[in-house]
Amino acid sequence: MKTQVKKIRDLNIDIGIIKEAGHIIKGGDLVAFPTETVYGLGADGLNEEAVKKIYLAKGRPSDNPLILHIDSISMLERLVKEVTEEAKLLIEAFWPGPLTIVLKKNSLVPSIISAGLDSVAIRMPNNPIALALIKETNTPIAAPSANTSGRPSPTRPDHVLEDMVDKIPLIIDGGETGVGLESTVIDLSENTPLILRPGGVTIEEIKKILPNVRLDPGLVENDKLNLIPKSPGQKYRHYAPKAQMVLYVGKREDRLDAIVKRAEKESAKGKKVGILGFEENKDSFKDFPHLILGLESDKAKIAHVLFDSLRRLDDLGLDLILCEGLDSDNIGMAIMNRLEKASGGNIVYV
Ligand code: TXA
Ligand code: MG
Repeated sequence: MKTQVKKIRDLNIDIGIIKEAGHIIKGGDLVAFPTETVYGLGADGLNEEAVKKIYLAKGRPSDNPLILHIDSISMLERLVKEVTEEAKLLIEAFWPGPLTIVLKKNSLVPSIISAGLDSVAIRMPNNPIALALIKETNTPIAAPSANTSGRPSPTRPDHVLEDMVDKIPLIIDGGETGVGLESTVIDLSENTPLILRPGGVTIEEIKKILPNVRLDPGLVENDKLNLIPKSPGQKYRHYAPKAQMVLYVGKREDRLDAIVKRAEKESAKGKKVGILGFEENKDSFKDFPHLILGLESDKAKIAHVLFDSLRRLDDLGLDLILCEGLDSDNIGMAIMNRLEKASGGNIVYV
């Protein structure tokens, strides 16, 4: 299959591309499209055969459920048993936007979407191209991030092409995505609201609306207690560069000291070692190859470039990557979650 890439810069002018993409999705095939978080790999969420193609193209384990993308509250009401009071408050505050809400599903949602669970994850993306595509198809669009399973999520059309070339008929190029990390996933299907994946909407913001919100214990204590996260996607190694990566967490001086010592030790053994770190600290990295994520003080920018940086690390041909951690307040929590996954839990606390 030949993959076409079509650019949309002005929806009024390029509306033909939305019509073509809608036609492909209604016909049971896949289209990659931009959202405000990362690119999604979209299929008609009510067509089982089409959704199977998503799992195939990504090489995704079949026990990892998908998010349905919607453009209206009436579409939401058709998919769930009940839009709870808590859900209404969050929708009012954050939709359209990077928040995915898990609710009890109703029978219209095929079990391939929920991977057999009795709940379904839903969000309304804040991107005009995504919203126009959902409107055109008039169906909830199932869309995981448009990467090969395990690789960093795509924030640019060329990332999608890298992973999906000749596997899907169409990629809509809408430029770089804004947030750069995936949506926050919150489970409202049980008694206590539970964050299953930190993302674009921060826990601090959610707490203002739902003060009783909790973090999934499987998320925080994963390695220490060996708990299994409730969001199946959180249990896999993910976002991983090809080289082994180690994440260093702790005070600035101690962290830099530990990184440079390790780099010197490993390179003396003949390993090619690189550093992933922050602008403020680049003078400490000596002559080791490094990639700068941006200013530690500008977390939104770091979130925006993180996945592209993880992909570009592969081009440096390294054996070992030593990476700086940062404070996990606000969007820092989502950044640290992705870095923990990218390092496969290989974390040094200094
Ligand atoms: O920002 C995003 O959310 C992007 C864009 C394309 O919208 N999508 C995305 O989808 O990140 P994906 O499939 O890469 O991640 C979906 C996450 C997974 O961790 C999955 O396990 C979880 O949501 N999930 C989906 N349905 C669920 C459910 N019913 N219960 C618990 N977790 C669920
Ligand atoms: Mg993903």
